[in-house]
Amino acid sequence: MKKYHYGICLLISIAINIIFSMNPYVGGREKNQEISCRPSLSWSEKAAIEAEAVAAISCSGHGRAFVDGSISYGRTVCECYGCYGGADCSELSSECVADADSGDPVYLEPFWMQHAADTAVVISGWHRMSYNYADDTMMSIELENCIRKLHSIVGNAITEGRYMVFGVGSSQLLSAAVYALSSEISSSPSKVFASKPFYPIYKDQTVFFNSNNFQFKGDTNSWQLNNSTNSTDVIEFVTSPNNPDGELKKPVLRGKTIYDHAYFWPEFTPIPGPSDHDLMIFTLSKLTGHAGTRFGWAIIKNKDVYEKVLKYIYLADMGISKDTQLRVLKLLKVAIEEDGKPFFEFAYNQMRERWERLTFVFSMSKRFSIQKRHPLHCNFFHETRLPSPAYAWVKCEREEDDDCKAVLEAAKIRSSSGSTFGAEDRYTRLSLIKSQDDFELLLQRLTQLVFLENTSIETL
Ligand SMILES: Cc1ncc(COP(=O)(O)O)c(C=O)c1O
Repeated sequence: MKKYHYGICLLISIAINIIFSMNPYVGGREKNQEISCRPSLSWSEKAAIEAEAVAAISCSGHGRAFVDGSISYGRTVCECYGCYGGADCSELSSECVADADSGDPVYLEPFWMQHAADTAVVISGWHRMSYNYADDTMMSIELENCIRKLHSIVGNAITEGRYMVFGVGSSQLLSAAVYALSSEISSSPSKVFASKPFYPIYKDQTVFFNSNNFQFKGDTNSWQLNNSTNSTDVIEFVTSPNNPDGELKKPVLRGKTIYDHAYFWPEFTPIPGPSDHDLMIFTLSKLTGHAGTRFGWAIIKNKDVYEKVLKYIYLADMGISKDTQLRVLKLLKVAIEEDGKPFFEFAYNQMRERWERLTFVFSMSKRFSIQKRHPLHCNFFHETRLPSPAYAWVKCEREEDDDCKAVLEAAKIRSSSGSTFGAEDRYTRLSLIKSQDDFELLLQRLTQLVFLENTSIETL
């Protein structure tokens, strides 16, 4: 009798299984439909597997492995951050120098890792092989529209009725702008200025390109003191917010201006209103942190200036890589999701936290000071906030500490000297946009330095 019951149960169970697996309208409907709707991958699957396999290499959280990284013993090598080493980046070198020198904006890596699925790019072997897009231009209309939308969401620049040109990073557009604004007919070269402390590339590029049409003349204020302001052939870089001190700069001379808005984004500064100048330059590097993608854009009012900037880009590199433009489009589409709130809140919170920790350390020091920050209303976040600049501009207050970079170097902190920015060496710049590991080590070294200052005062 028992055996007979078991047999019936087994038969019923088999029958139910057969019905469920054959009939899509019983229970398994949604699952079956989902499977039948998903196209099977052919050529992209191998690349996706390779990308995911490399991304899965942990590097102990202190480095990254990349698809194009070196291979050792058949395995992609981990590229370790700052002071970490070893095959899996797990070894911290205690004597290592905390590097706060370069403006490498890796601090947003965690955001992009959280959005890996939405920002991954699959590029086929035949993706946009032509120099041009279908409309015979070298710029993606989709990307241009996306950038215009980004500016209108953030409210940091007027783009309606303005021309746009893409460049290989904003660095290229800075020199294209000087070329476009300089006079080709005047007997003397146009004079190029910036206000101290200024981003050194302005001088370096102008000197390097060594043109008959323009010449770097240095600091605006020194020039104004010694010369009557004849504005005709003057080109002034206005960096707002400024690198290195984060100030929202205004022009000093009454000439033509190039507004460098590399840091005019809500993570670094409250946005008081949209910028509406003749020539404004932005960069992906500091907006999303993708410096390696090398992408920037200029927003230009005047048609003749626009055509000259376009000509410069055409002659320099026949337009910007189509692969780059695709990647930038993917990234910016995520940055503007939900009107930019998730992206800018993440980025701002990172910077705010770093500034809070940094100001706490400096508040205990009399030997060092950093720039004062002033609250301002932010139209993007709809509240009054303190700026959270990309760099701390450190001043050594003791008279004998006239080389502040050297003072920090002795405490195993690498910074960028004041003279790099045309300022006194009593100042030095600390980068706050590097990886979390770099920032933690920087903070640790600064805390030790300030602790030593306070203990030595007490012992005196
Ligand atoms: C003020 C300023 N402008 C422009 C740039 C260059 O940026 P990009 O990476 O777009 O060439 C930088 C880079 O640090 C910068 O600080």
